[in-house]
Amino acid sequence: MQFLCKFSDIEEGCAKGFEIEGTRLLAVKYRGELYVYENSCPHRSIPLEWQPDQFLDYDKTFIQCATHGALFKIDSGECISGPCVEDRLNSVTFTREGEDILVEL
Ligand code: FES
Repeated sequence: MQFLCKFSDIEEGCAKGFEIEGTRLLAVKYRGELYVYENSCPHRSIPLEWQPDQFLDYDKTFIQCATHGALFKIDSGECISGPCVEDRLNSVTFTREGEDILVEL
């Protein structure tokens, strides 16, 4: 397990990008829960964001790919709109130890 961040490093309704040993990740805090995914759009296997930490749509209710606009459910990674509908983001297993978020890569 590797340290990703502190739970409090990500504000409610916000996302943050990370890179650990060449693996790009994003973490989103949504309704008090944390979700961690590989930062790779299933459409073209490229990073989701153009601007640092800009992973969410305007309403902050979906993860959005900046390239072609695919929308993914925050709590499951399932694509519900765009060129990769029914595909999903790869979720990353993590544990919380106190304030520390540890990911399994
Ligand atoms: S690369 Fe993400 S929707 Fe096309």
